Amino acid sequence: MSDLTGFLGPAYLWVQAAHVTFVIFWMAGLFLLPRFYVYHQETIVGSPEDRAWIEREARVRSIILSPALVLVWILGIMLALHIDAFSQAWFHAKLALVVALSAYQGWLGSYGKKLASGQRPLSGKAVRLINEIPGIAAALIVVLVIVRPF
Ligand code: HEM
Repeated sequence: MSDLTGFLGPAYLWVQAAHVTFVIFWMAGLFLLPRFYVYHQETIVGSPEDRAWIEREARVRSIILSPALVLVWILGIMLALHIDAFSQAWFHAKLALVVALSAYQGWLGSYGKKLASGQRPLSGKAVRLINEIPGIAAALIVVLVIVRPF
């Protein structure tokens, strides 16, 4: 869409470009972190590898995931105000999915804390399955914003 009449004016397309860019960074982090957990789970608690994974995971969270989540939300809400998306059904569905994805990130954070404290609550297979969630959510979100089936 190239509606330049909203409050963002000609900046609209730039905001959209920035939104999609940070969505890519966010998704990269969401794919990476549970993959790290799969490898981390297999290390011996307290070993040098265990400590190395704890450090890598903390970096993915603080350098990629947290900033990307905040920026995607800010830019997305600006776009929503610009195109008056809050009155549209496709956007309600998208909002539900992005809230779920943000909650998923919260869950990833809590699972990482458990791993860091020496717990291994889930099997590697379960973590691999959970790793599919962001991909499925992203595919649904892209259909909602591009196709707008309702
Ligand atoms: C976190 C909260 C989010 C909000 C509030 C939000 C909101 C929006 C809005 C209102 C638009 C504008 C559509 C237009 O101008 O036509 C948009 C565009 C877009 N969003 Fe999001 N979004 C969010 C997260 C995401 C996520 C997680 C993804 C993908 C996984 C995503 C993918 C896209 C894409 C691909 C577009 C471009 C669509 C087009 O070219 O028209 N967004 N977003």
